[in-house]
Amino acid sequence: MTKIGVLVSGGGTNLQAVIDRVHHKSGEIAVVIANNAEAYGLTRAQNSGIPTAVVLEKDFEDYDAFNAEIIRTLKDKGVELVVLAGYMKIITPAFVEAYPNKIVNIHPALIPSFCGEGYYGLHVHEAVIDYGVKVTGATVHFVNEEADAGPIIAQKTVEVADDDTPESIQKKVLEIEHTLLPWVVEQYCLGHITVEGRKTKITSEQ
Ligand code: GAR
Repeated sequence: MTKIGVLVSGGGTNLQAVIDRVHHKSGEIAVVIANNAEAYGLTRAQNSGIPTAVVLEKDFEDYDAFNAEIIRTLKDKGVELVVLAGYMKIITPAFVEAYPNKIVNIHPALIPSFCGEGYYGLHVHEAVIDYGVKVTGATVHFVNEEADAGPIIAQKTVEVADDDTPESIQKKVLEIEHTLLPWVVEQYCLGHITVEGRKTKITSEQ
């Protein structure tokens, strides 16, 4: 079974969806790491008997040292696939080098729109409403050295209605994330995902 490490910063509803669909089935979540001691994702992990770790940026002399500790914790647990499930920190080049095309991120918009630095959480949905787009959605992609710019694995859309607010869009997008992310993680664990340059392929039916 593929050993998975999940990084969270907050509520962890995506983590929960991955636990429900993947844990002890196609993969094993070996550790959940949070950069925030209050992250409810930690409680979700503990409720499922999954080991947790809290790594706080303020405890390290710089951002590289903070990331080095996360990489050390993942390697220590034998993690082969890293899942960023609502993780609000930028991944360093050393982190990408340690897990090349082995880190997946869920982003709450249709990349390449509304992504990159500053686009996280509710800010993404505020920008969606301000721009006036009629569809938005969620993207799961591999992580490379540039924020939200690695090869796209899967996307799903939701419609933006005239009376939608950032909060209502966030709710709709979260709902589709909860099927999209676990499905991608499962396909990865089953060895169904291939990557060539920027192009990925999934060799099974959705
Ligand atoms: C999700 O919508 C996820 O796409 C987003 O944060 C939310 C976390 O929810 N991630 C980002 O914005 C990362 N750039 P959760 O903690 O309930 O899974």
